[in-house]
Amino acid sequence: MTDLFTNPHRYGDLEAWRREAVELHAGGPIHRIEQPGYQPFWAVIGHAAILDVERRPGDFTNAPIPVLGSDEQLALRATEGAQIRTLIHMDEPDHGKYRSLTADWFKPASMRRMTDRLDELSRQAVDRLEALGGEADFYRDVALHYPLQVILSILGLPEADYPRMLRLTQELFGAEDPDLQRRDLTPEQQVEVILDFYRYFTGLTADRQAEPTDDLATLIANGTIDDTPMPELEKMGYYVIIATAGHDTTAAAMAGGLRALAEHPEQMRLLQKDPELVPNAVEEMIRWTAPVRHFMRTAQVDAEIGGVKIAAGDWLYLSYLAGNLDPAVFDDPLRFDVKRTNAAKHIAFGYGIHFCLGAQLARMELRSLFGHLIPRLQSLELAGEPQTAKTTFVGGHKTVPIRYTLTPSS
Ligand code: HEM
Repeated sequence: MTDLFTNPHRYGDLEAWRREAVELHAGGPIHRIEQPGYQPFWAVIGHAAILDVERRPGDFTNAPIPVLGSDEQLALRATEGAQIRTLIHMDEPDHGKYRSLTADWFKPASMRRMTDRLDELSRQAVDRLEALGGEADFYRDVALHYPLQVILSILGLPEADYPRMLRLTQELFGAEDPDLQRRDLTPEQQVEVILDFYRYFTGLTADRQAEPTDDLATLIANGTIDDTPMPELEKMGYYVIIATAGHDTTAAAMAGGLRALAEHPEQMRLLQKDPELVPNAVEEMIRWTAPVRHFMRTAQVDAEIGGVKIAAGDWLYLSYLAGNLDPAVFDDPLRFDVKRTNAAKHIAFGYGIHFCLGAQLARMELRSLFGHLIPRLQSLELAGEPQTAKTTFVGGHKTVPIRYTLTPSS
């Protein structure tokens, strides 16, 4: 029985992971997984099967547990009491009510307001690479910072708050990889860090209630649900989901995308010859990296998915990375191909009512960054073995060492 979906270390060797996922597709779109220490679940890997599940949010809910955990982790989460409740923990009707508060803000027309800021950040990223003089770690020097600067901008936070937000997204949430965890913190200190964030976001709420602006924090701070102010815990959840969902994910796509270009110089040359290919290349990078490895759903009814009978109460692991490697949709799925005609059919942003709220923003970030970088890159190669994050949830790389030459800035 494969531990492909439960063992964080397996995601540390992405090439092997991808190969095994493609082999699994030959055995069908959905597989029963029984691993010691985990509740049994179904790994849904077929592209069509994942869409089927996502099209039926009433039959397959995010509650009670939207992210995989071992029995031990789930027991721990249960004793920790009031969990932060975010969009991904919610089902209808709550989910729709909370999502509609910010949905318009993320629509393409509204996102265009970000174009200038993204171009500025992209120029800064290229300048930084230039200043580093030909050797850099693309993850740590560029990809880790860029999307977090964007989060600060959309929430309307000052640059001075960058270190604090970095701590929030890297250490408190989504840190399954041992290198990213703060093992030096005692439980009391961890509580203190969390309280620090409560104080910080409570202050932010008070500021935006007193002086509303046109940023996202203003929408959250003043949000109402059924004509009453949004409860405090849900406000915290909203700030946290925007910050965390928008950071690691996009950073992983940038770092994994650049790595793919370094490993496939012929693809890089295609982009240099024809910069119009950049938007399609970005879709292929997102297909290839699928930084959100999974979300879980719980069946509320007996159902059939991909020809397999599912019982009410069963747990389903939607494997976006495996779905993006489905040979029934993607010809020769293990080929990284910036000209792939259906690259945009990837399901890395999910589908249906939970479809990634920041998808348009993430695409714009990647297009802007690579749009600025690629014309300046004269050469690019890996300068060492990249390290990948050992996580079953969100991530990609921890390091992408590169050697490069850039054309001088004009
Ligand atoms: C390449 C980058 C990104 C990837 C791969 C990604 C992927 C995903 C996925 C797979 C989901 C769940 C979809 C589902 O259940 O069907 C999701 C949800 C979400 N994402 Fe993203 N995301 C990215 C960037 C962003 C950004 C930049 C933001 C915001 C700043 C963002 C905010 C959200 C939010 C708020 C949700 C919850 C939506 C809901 O439950 O209604 N994401 N994302």
